[in-house]
Amino acid sequence: MDFVEQVKSAIDIVKVAGDYVRLRRMGATGRYIGLCPFHQEKTPSFNVHQNRQFYKCFGCGAGGDALKFVMEIEGLTFPEALKMLAERHGIPIPKRNEYSDADSRLRGALIEMHEIAAQMYETALRGPEGAEARAYLARRGVSEEAMETFALGVSDPSGQALARKLAAQGFSAEQMEASGLVRRRTEGAGYYDAFRGRLMFPIHNESGKVIAFGGRAMREGDEPKYLNSPETPIYRKTWTLYNLHRARDGMRKASRAVLVEGYMDVIGVHAAGVKEVVATCGTALTNQQVRTIHRHADNVILNFDPDTAGANAAERAIQLLLDEGLHIRVLSLGEAGAEIKLDPYEFVKQKGPDAYRAALEAASGYFHWLADRARGRFDMRSAEGRMDAFKFLLPAVQKISGNLERAAVANDVAGYLGVEPGLVLDQFKKAAGARRAPLAVTPPRVEIPAPERILLNALLNSEETRHRILPRLPGALEEVFVAHEIFKALEHMAAEGGALPFAALDARLSEQGRALLHAAASADEIGDDAACLAQAEACLRRLEEDFRRRHVDDLRARVKSAEREGDMQQALAWMAELSRLERDATQARGVSRVGGVVN
Ligand code: UTP
Ligand code: MN
Repeated sequence: MDFVEQVKSAIDIVKVAGDYVRLRRMGATGRYIGLCPFHQEKTPSFNVHQNRQFYKCFGCGAGGDALKFVMEIEGLTFPEALKMLAERHGIPIPKRNEYSDADSRLRGALIEMHEIAAQMYETALRGPEGAEARAYLARRGVSEEAMETFALGVSDPSGQALARKLAAQGFSAEQMEASGLVRRRTEGAGYYDAFRGRLMFPIHNESGKVIAFGGRAMREGDEPKYLNSPETPIYRKTWTLYNLHRARDGMRKASRAVLVEGYMDVIGVHAAGVKEVVATCGTALTNQQVRTIHRHADNVILNFDPDTAGANAAERAIQLLLDEGLHIRVLSLGEAGAEIKLDPYEFVKQKGPDAYRAALEAASGYFHWLADRARGRFDMRSAEGRMDAFKFLLPAVQKISGNLERAAVANDVAGYLGVEPGLVLDQFKKAAGARRAPLAVTPPRVEIPAPERILLNALLNSEETRHRILPRLPGALEEVFVAHEIFKALEHMAAEGGALPFAALDARLSEQGRALLHAAASADEIGDDAACLAQAEACLRRLEEDFRRRHVDDLRARVKSAEREGDMQQALAWMAELSRLERDATQARGVSRVGGVVN
């Protein structure tokens, strides 16, 4: 049995997908459903079939086998997904199965480099060179156990250790540069460490590989307080949640996530016995992060810092979480009236785990929190002020999906703010009208017409098809493709030779191109080379035919208008082109008939 077959036979799609998506068993037929991880939805249309070892989303069309699932959700190439699944199932990876394409090789090396770095930082924290960092941690009340759980470390103050080690291991200049772990010296040869003398927090991806670091300064006045890894081919900040790989089991069990701002907060909350805690890595919460949370939980408790920045961030986060249909509560640790404002870490440290857990359980619904914000912002003594406060809350209330729940919350909030119920109803009606309007102004989503999309998918999925079809693609036809950019990128990559890593293609595209690619790539089921080639041939014929017809129609119209204007010379020129086109068409049909016989 070859390696691919061996991996495929060892894995079960229900387990593989079930790691990322909460699946519910439907009857005894081996069908499971859940919320699709590939598009935003509130009712499940993502199906996993155990018997057929296949997944399919009826909402967005995504579908494929377990390997395809891992490729899509982790953003991996085929060999990377294969390697990851083999590792998880203890299947030895053959040496010759080393990555064949440059991007996968680079990412493989970056993962290795991060492993080496994490090891080195951790060892240093335990050794004599870790004395200062250990004292710092002790002073801040971080336990030995937490140090171990979070694999904390310390980086070499002289900025030599890691650069030397990586160079000794033979990593190339390109890999060194891309890692974000070291920097090239401006004078002289070689590299120095990017993190020097900092307390190191490894950041993991969802499957538990170290992909980045946050490094905290340990001395007053050392700026910046946290130095973070740059984005690299293995680290996308907007997709990453700190501590997710440790938290996700807990998130599922409790069906809730506690969302905090900082690395230290995660450590504190975790120490309080709340394992389902994750943090944004010092950036504003993103859609992708919200969707990731939703794969594992339906409830979110926001526990940001009780300062202005934290409150503003929480306000924005609420809107995003509501859009995803999550239930939200907000825990604000600023004591009412008092000047004591604690971030989650300090709260746990000063008040203890029990007090923190009690506060968490007592956290109020997000609209009460928002209402308190509104109270501080508007003059609540006047009727107008109260109304303004209510209007401030309205957008969030409007996002509640159930009519009844929405009305109930609106009344509740109005009561809380002291606004008359009649006025609430008026506002609701107005807002309902306005709510439809923004939908109309959002630009219509561009879609690739079916023949072009199927052609594209055939090209994406079969090297043979790329090899045979791409050189035959007429430039003028390609110009009018909706996904023109993707075809161009495919041609460039084919010219460079070798396999087609999805991620590399992705990386070449604009935002819009990428959106088109993702929508298209999950739309059709994938056949083998022969099926792809046949599909591509058929689509290409159809597209050329349409193109020619449009061109002919266009020329006819030109001939007519030239005649009308009495410009006979021009009319004749157009007519000549028209007959040339028709001659070509007959020839092309002849050729494609021959092609059809050969296939
Ligand atoms: P905080 O300043 O609240 O840090 O920033 P913290 O995690 O609570 O750590 P301590 O308790 O002060 O030591 C919250 C998060 O914002 C990011 C980090 O991810 C941090 O955990 N941050 C903060 C940075 O990336 N850079 C900075 O300079 C500061
Ligand atoms: Mn903090």
